[in-house]
Order: sequence, then C-alpha cells, then structure tokens
Amino acid sequence: MEFKLIKFDNITEGRSSLISLEEMKNIPFKIKRVYYIYGLKPDEERGKHAHKNLEQVLICLHGSCTIILDNGKNRKFVDLSHPCDGLYIGRNIWREMKNFTEGCVLLVLASEYYDESEYIRDYDEFLKAL
Ligand code: TYD
Repeated sequence: MEFKLIKFDNITEGRSSLISLEEMKNIPFKIKRVYYIYGLKPDEERGKHAHKNLEQVLICLHGSCTIILDNGKNRKFVDLSHPCDGLYIGRNIWREMKNFTEGCVLLVLASEYYDESEYIRDYDEFLKAL
C-alpha cells in the first residue's frame, strides 16, 4: 500500500517549535495546493474517497485523529497526534478520517489543484477501478 509516515525535524527555540515543509525535500512532491480542516468534532467522519491522480501529506497541527487507509485488500489505521508527523498517501488509496479530538486541525498538502473529477467517492467503484 502506498503510504508512509514522515517524521519532520523540528527547530525548538525556548519552549516553542518550528517545522519547515519544502517540496521535493521533506515533502515528496511539488506542492500545488494547501488546505486545512478545522472546527472538527469527535463524532465527525470525513474522507471516504480515493484519488485517481493525487498525492497528499496530512499533518495534524492540533489535537489528534485516526486515518484509515484501504487499498482494496488491506486496511491500516494510522493515528496522527503530533505536528512532527506527516502521513504521505499515494494514488488510489481509499481514506477515511475519524476519532477527531475537539478542535482538531488537519493540514493537507496536495500534489494537484482541486479537481472533483479525479475523486472516486463510491467504494464499489474504487474496488472496480483497481
Ligand atoms: P473533501 O475532499 O470531500 O473533504 P474531506 O476529504 O475532508 O472529507 O471536500 C469537501 C468539500 O470541499 C467538497 O465539496 C469539495 C470541496 N473542496 C474544494 O472545493 N476544494 C478543495 O481543495 C477541497 C480539498 C475540497
């Protein structure tokens, strides 16, 4: 399954820390889009789709959440709970996001501009396309 955890180096000065993200360095693609999801509630579930042609890195900037990754054969559960952790997700992986802590903030870096036509939002269609 094409996903991996990336550990970002942090620069700590005093009691606070800084993390720098750079395309083709600690982010393994050219970044065309950045978005963030906020105001998340514990009972919320997001995602439930795959992308035909998109790579992403997910970073939980505040709080924690669980990302479910599915390649049609296996399901993996990844907990994101620290801004030092990035989750790279390749193409054709079904993802679901849940178990958000109250006020969780999720940052997403994406390799392509937004294009609804490259989403697969139906699980059976996802399986058929593999
Ligand atoms: P979606 O990708 O389904 O969100 P999530 O994976 O977090 O559940 O997108 C939610 C809505 O926002 C959907 O109507 C598409 C829209 N959207 C944009 O307009 N631009 C974007 O860059 C993204 C990521 C979503």
